[in-house]
Amino acid sequence: MLELKNISFSYNKQNQEYEFSLKNVSFCLNRGEKIALMGANGSGKSTLIRCINGLLKPDKGQVIVDGVELVFPDTVLEIRKKVGMVFQNPDNQIVTTSVEREIAFGLENIGTGKREMDFKVQKAMEQFHLGKYRTRPPHLLSGGERQRLALASVLVMEPDYLILDEPTSLLDPAGREEILSTITAQAENEKKGVILVTQFPEEALEFDRVVILDSGEIVMQGTPDQVFSETDKIKSVGLDVPVKTELGKYLKELISGY
Ligand SMILES: Nc1ncnc2c1ncn2[C@@H]1O[C@H](COP(=O)(O)OP(=O)(O)O)[C@@H](O)[C@H]1O
Ligand SMILES: [Mg+2]
Repeated sequence: MLELKNISFSYNKQNQEYEFSLKNVSFCLNRGEKIALMGANGSGKSTLIRCINGLLKPDKGQVIVDGVELVFPDTVLEIRKKVGMVFQNPDNQIVTTSVEREIAFGLENIGTGKREMDFKVQKAMEQFHLGKYRTRPPHLLSGGERQRLALASVLVMEPDYLILDEPTSLLDPAGREEILSTITAQAENEKKGVILVTQFPEEALEFDRVVILDSGEIVMQGTPDQVFSETDKIKSVGLDVPVKTELGKYLKELISGY
Protein backbone atom coordinates (compact mmCIF):
# COMPACT_ATOMS: atom_id res chain seq x y z
CA MET A 1 0.00 0.00 0.00
CA LEU A 2 1.11 3.55 -0.77
CA GLU A 3 0.09 5.94 1.98
CA LEU A 4 0.19 9.72 2.11
CA LYS A 5 -0.36 11.15 5.56
CA ASN A 6 -0.99 14.85 6.02
CA ILE A 7 1.41 16.02 3.33
CA SER A 8 2.06 19.76 3.21
CA PHE A 9 4.50 21.49 0.89
CA SER A 10 5.50 25.06 0.05
CA TYR A 11 7.83 26.19 -2.75
CA ASN A 12 8.58 29.48 -1.09
CA LYS A 13 9.77 28.93 2.43
CA GLN A 14 11.95 32.07 2.64
CA ASN A 15 8.94 34.33 2.57
CA GLN A 16 7.37 34.88 6.02
CA GLU A 17 3.79 34.55 4.81
CA TYR A 18 4.38 31.71 2.45
CA GLU A 19 1.60 29.82 0.75
CA PHE A 20 1.34 26.07 0.89
CA SER A 21 0.92 24.38 -2.50
CA LEU A 22 -0.24 21.27 -0.66
CA LYS A 23 -2.19 21.34 2.56
CA ASN A 24 -2.64 18.24 4.67
CA VAL A 25 -3.14 15.81 1.82
CA SER A 26 -3.87 12.21 2.84
CA PHE A 27 -4.92 9.16 0.87
CA CYS A 28 -4.02 5.52 0.30
CA LEU A 29 -3.51 3.49 -2.84
CA ASN A 30 -3.57 -0.30 -2.86
CA ARG A 31 -1.79 -2.49 -5.37
CA GLY A 32 -4.12 -3.27 -8.24
CA GLU A 33 -6.07 -0.06 -7.62
CA LYS A 34 -6.33 2.89 -10.02
CA ILE A 35 -6.77 6.45 -8.82
CA ALA A 36 -7.42 9.38 -11.14
CA LEU A 37 -6.02 12.60 -9.65
CA MET A 38 -7.75 15.67 -10.99
CA GLY A 39 -7.89 19.39 -10.36
CA ALA A 40 -7.67 22.70 -12.22
CA ASN A 41 -4.32 24.05 -13.40
CA GLY A 42 -2.18 24.99 -10.42
CA SER A 43 -4.21 22.94 -7.94
CA GLY A 44 -1.10 20.99 -6.87
CA LYS A 45 -1.31 17.70 -8.77
CA SER A 46 2.27 17.70 -10.07
CA THR A 47 3.59 18.95 -6.76
CA LEU A 48 1.84 16.10 -4.96
CA ILE A 49 3.16 13.33 -7.13
CA ARG A 50 6.67 14.79 -7.00
CA CYS A 51 6.45 14.51 -3.23
CA ILE A 52 5.59 10.83 -3.50
CA ASN A 53 8.86 9.70 -5.05
CA GLY A 54 11.08 12.25 -3.40
CA LEU A 55 11.61 14.68 -6.28
CA LEU A 56 10.30 17.19 -3.73
CA LYS A 57 10.65 16.95 0.03
CA PRO A 58 7.36 17.45 1.86
CA ASP A 59 7.53 20.02 4.68
CA LYS A 60 5.16 18.00 6.79
CA GLY A 61 3.60 14.57 6.73
CA GLN A 62 4.70 11.12 5.68
CA VAL A 63 4.94 9.10 2.50
CA ILE A 64 4.97 5.35 3.23
CA VAL A 65 5.30 2.75 0.48
CA ASP A 66 4.78 -0.88 1.49
CA GLY A 67 5.87 -0.01 5.01
CA VAL A 68 8.95 1.98 3.95
CA GLU A 69 8.80 5.64 4.92
CA LEU A 70 10.31 8.23 2.60
CA VAL A 71 13.24 9.66 4.55
CA PHE A 72 15.78 11.98 2.94
CA PRO A 73 18.22 10.80 1.73
CA ASP A 74 18.16 7.29 3.22
CA THR A 75 15.17 5.72 1.51
CA VAL A 76 14.74 7.94 -1.56
CA LEU A 77 16.29 5.40 -3.94
CA GLU A 78 14.37 2.53 -2.41
CA ILE A 79 11.10 4.43 -2.84
CA ARG A 80 11.95 5.38 -6.44
CA LYS A 81 12.50 1.71 -7.22
CA LYS A 82 9.02 0.95 -5.98
CA VAL A 83 7.32 3.94 -7.59
CA GLY A 84 7.78 4.53 -11.33
CA MET A 85 6.95 7.93 -12.82
CA VAL A 86 5.93 8.96 -16.33
CA PHE A 87 5.57 12.63 -17.26
CA GLN A 88 3.53 14.65 -19.71
CA ASN A 89 6.23 15.09 -22.30
CA PRO A 90 8.13 11.88 -23.10
CA ASP A 91 10.93 13.94 -24.65
CA ASN A 92 11.94 15.15 -21.20
CA GLN A 93 12.32 11.55 -20.11
CA ILE A 94 14.04 9.98 -23.14
CA VAL A 95 17.83 10.02 -22.80
CA THR A 96 19.37 7.62 -25.33
CA THR A 97 19.62 7.23 -29.10
CA SER A 98 17.65 4.04 -29.83
CA VAL A 99 14.49 2.36 -28.61
CA GLU A 100 16.40 -0.67 -27.37
CA ARG A 101 19.01 1.36 -25.49
CA GLU A 102 16.32 3.53 -23.97
CA ILE A 103 14.54 0.55 -22.46
CA ALA A 104 17.87 -0.90 -21.28
CA PHE A 105 19.06 2.37 -19.73
CA GLY A 106 17.53 2.02 -16.26
CA LEU A 107 18.48 -1.66 -16.04
CA GLU A 108 22.08 -0.82 -16.94
CA ASN A 109 22.15 1.81 -14.22
CA ILE A 110 21.25 -0.72 -11.56
CA GLY A 111 23.86 -3.16 -12.87
CA THR A 112 21.57 -5.79 -14.39
CA GLY A 113 23.49 -8.66 -16.03
CA LYS A 114 23.53 -8.81 -19.82
CA ARG A 115 21.42 -11.94 -20.24
CA GLU A 116 18.72 -10.78 -17.88
CA MET A 117 18.78 -7.33 -19.45
CA ASP A 118 18.46 -8.64 -23.01
CA PHE A 119 15.55 -10.82 -21.94
CA LYS A 120 13.70 -8.00 -20.18
CA VAL A 121 14.32 -5.49 -22.96
CA GLN A 122 13.08 -7.93 -25.58
CA LYS A 123 9.98 -8.70 -23.56
CA ALA A 124 9.22 -5.02 -23.01
CA MET A 125 9.63 -4.26 -26.73
CA GLU A 126 7.15 -7.00 -27.56
CA GLN A 127 4.69 -5.99 -24.88
CA PHE A 128 4.69 -2.37 -25.99
CA HIS A 129 4.75 -3.14 -29.72
CA LEU A 130 8.10 -1.45 -30.17
CA GLY A 131 10.03 -4.45 -31.54
CA LYS A 132 10.03 -3.24 -35.12
CA TYR A 133 11.64 0.03 -33.98
CA ARG A 134 14.44 -1.64 -32.01
CA THR A 135 17.30 0.42 -33.46
CA ARG A 136 15.31 3.51 -34.35
CA PRO A 137 16.20 6.84 -32.72
CA PRO A 138 13.33 7.79 -30.40
CA HIS A 139 12.88 11.22 -32.01
CA LEU A 140 11.73 9.49 -35.21
CA LEU A 141 8.79 7.86 -33.43
CA SER A 142 5.33 9.41 -33.22
CA GLY A 143 4.21 11.15 -30.01
CA GLY A 144 2.15 8.13 -28.96
CA GLU A 145 5.04 5.75 -29.66
CA ARG A 146 7.46 7.95 -27.70
CA GLN A 147 5.09 7.97 -24.72
CA ARG A 148 4.78 4.18 -25.03
CA LEU A 149 8.58 4.01 -25.00
CA ALA A 150 8.75 6.19 -21.89
CA LEU A 151 6.21 3.91 -20.24
CA ALA A 152 8.10 0.76 -21.31
CA SER A 153 11.36 2.18 -19.93
CA VAL A 154 9.73 2.73 -16.55
CA LEU A 155 7.84 -0.56 -16.42
CA VAL A 156 10.87 -2.65 -17.36
CA MET A 157 12.19 -1.68 -13.92
CA GLU A 158 9.21 -3.53 -12.42
CA PRO A 159 7.91 -0.86 -10.05
CA ASP A 160 4.99 -1.85 -7.80
CA TYR A 161 3.35 1.53 -8.26
CA LEU A 162 3.05 3.64 -11.36
CA ILE A 163 2.38 7.37 -11.34
CA LEU A 164 1.66 9.26 -14.53
CA ASP A 165 1.41 13.04 -14.82
CA GLU A 166 -0.91 13.87 -17.72
CA PRO A 167 0.77 11.29 -19.99
CA THR A 168 -1.87 11.58 -22.69
CA SER A 169 -2.30 15.32 -22.93
CA LEU A 170 0.00 15.73 -25.95
CA LEU A 171 -1.43 12.73 -27.81
CA ASP A 172 -4.14 12.32 -30.41
CA PRO A 173 -7.24 10.29 -29.43
CA ALA A 174 -5.81 7.02 -30.79
CA GLY A 175 -2.51 7.44 -28.93
CA ARG A 176 -4.42 8.44 -25.81
CA GLU A 177 -6.60 5.34 -25.94
CA GLU A 178 -3.57 3.12 -26.37
CA ILE A 179 -1.69 4.56 -23.41
CA LEU A 180 -4.79 4.43 -21.25
CA SER A 181 -5.48 0.77 -21.98
CA THR A 182 -1.84 -0.08 -21.24
CA ILE A 183 -2.10 1.72 -17.92
CA THR A 184 -5.34 0.04 -16.88
CA ALA A 185 -3.91 -3.36 -17.82
CA GLN A 186 -0.97 -2.67 -15.50
CA ALA A 187 -3.34 -2.33 -12.58
CA GLU A 188 -5.71 -5.12 -13.54
CA ASN A 189 -3.26 -7.77 -14.75
CA GLU A 190 0.01 -6.86 -13.07
CA LYS A 191 -1.59 -5.65 -9.82
CA LYS A 192 0.30 -2.40 -9.79
CA GLY A 193 -1.12 0.58 -7.95
CA VAL A 194 -1.70 3.39 -10.42
CA ILE A 195 -2.16 7.14 -10.01
CA LEU A 196 -3.07 8.93 -13.22
CA VAL A 197 -3.10 12.70 -13.26
CA THR A 198 -5.53 13.65 -15.98
CA GLN A 199 -7.48 16.59 -17.27
CA PHE A 200 -9.86 14.33 -19.19
CA PRO A 201 -12.90 13.31 -17.11
CA GLU A 202 -13.64 10.52 -19.60
CA GLU A 203 -10.35 8.85 -18.63
CA ALA A 204 -11.26 9.00 -14.96
CA LEU A 205 -14.45 7.00 -15.59
CA GLU A 206 -12.30 3.90 -16.10
CA PHE A 207 -10.75 4.27 -12.66
CA ASP A 208 -11.62 2.89 -9.24
CA ARG A 209 -11.40 6.21 -7.45
CA VAL A 210 -11.22 9.88 -8.30
CA VAL A 211 -9.38 12.31 -6.03
CA ILE A 212 -9.87 16.01 -6.66
CA LEU A 213 -7.49 18.75 -5.56
CA ASP A 214 -8.36 22.41 -5.27
CA SER A 215 -5.73 24.92 -4.11
CA GLY A 216 -3.60 22.14 -2.65
CA GLU A 217 -6.38 20.42 -0.72
CA ILE A 218 -8.39 17.30 -1.41
CA VAL A 219 -11.94 18.55 -1.84
CA MET A 220 -13.64 15.44 -3.22
CA GLN A 221 -12.88 11.75 -3.43
CA GLY A 222 -14.88 8.65 -4.24
CA THR A 223 -15.87 6.41 -7.12
CA PRO A 224 -16.25 8.18 -10.48
CA ASP A 225 -20.03 7.84 -10.16
CA GLN A 226 -20.06 9.45 -6.73
CA VAL A 227 -17.71 12.27 -7.62
CA PHE A 228 -19.13 13.15 -11.03
CA SER A 229 -22.72 13.09 -9.81
CA GLU A 230 -21.92 16.34 -7.98
CA THR A 231 -21.92 18.35 -11.17
CA ASP A 232 -22.08 21.77 -9.53
CA LYS A 233 -19.23 21.05 -7.15
CA ILE A 234 -17.10 19.67 -9.99
CA LYS A 235 -17.70 22.80 -12.02
CA SER A 236 -16.97 25.05 -9.05
CA VAL A 237 -13.41 23.66 -8.87
CA GLY A 238 -12.86 24.35 -12.56
CA LEU A 239 -13.41 20.84 -13.93
CA ASP A 240 -15.88 19.28 -16.35
CA VAL A 241 -17.96 16.17 -15.80
CA PRO A 242 -17.75 13.44 -18.44
CA VAL A 243 -20.16 13.95 -21.34
CA LYS A 244 -21.67 10.55 -20.51
CA THR A 245 -22.50 11.64 -16.94
CA GLU A 246 -23.92 14.96 -18.07
CA LEU A 247 -26.03 13.31 -20.74
CA GLY A 248 -27.30 10.71 -18.25
CA LYS A 249 -28.31 13.43 -15.81
CA TYR A 250 -30.05 15.39 -18.55
CA LEU A 251 -32.01 12.34 -19.70
CA LYS A 252 -33.06 11.54 -16.13
CA GLU A 253 -34.33 15.08 -15.65
CA LEU A 254 -36.13 14.94 -18.96
CA ILE A 255 -37.84 11.66 -18.10
CA SER A 256 -38.81 12.73 -14.57
CA GLY A 257 -40.21 15.95 -16.04
CA TYR A 258 -42.88 14.01 -17.87
N1 LIG B 1 8.81 25.29 -9.25
C1 LIG B 1 7.87 26.04 -8.66
N2 LIG B 1 8.19 27.13 -7.93
C2 LIG B 1 7.24 27.87 -7.31
N3 LIG B 1 5.93 27.59 -7.35
C3 LIG B 1 5.54 26.52 -8.06
C4 LIG B 1 6.49 25.69 -8.75
N4 LIG B 1 5.81 24.69 -9.37
C5 LIG B 1 4.51 24.89 -9.08
N5 LIG B 1 4.34 25.98 -8.30
C6 LIG B 1 3.05 26.48 -7.76
O1 LIG B 1 2.48 25.46 -6.96
C7 LIG B 1 1.08 25.37 -7.20
C8 LIG B 1 0.72 23.98 -7.69
O2 LIG B 1 1.33 23.75 -8.95
P1 LIG B 1 1.31 22.35 -9.70
O3 LIG B 1 1.60 21.30 -8.71
O4 LIG B 1 2.21 22.46 -10.87
O5 LIG B 1 -0.21 22.27 -10.15
P2 LIG B 1 -0.91 21.33 -11.24
O6 LIG B 1 0.02 20.24 -11.58
O7 LIG B 1 -2.15 20.88 -10.57
O8 LIG B 1 -1.22 22.20 -12.41
C9 LIG B 1 0.74 26.48 -8.20
O9 LIG B 1 0.31 27.59 -7.48
C10 LIG B 1 2.07 26.75 -8.86
O10 LIG B 1 2.14 28.08 -9.30
MG1 LIG C 1 0.83 19.58 -13.42
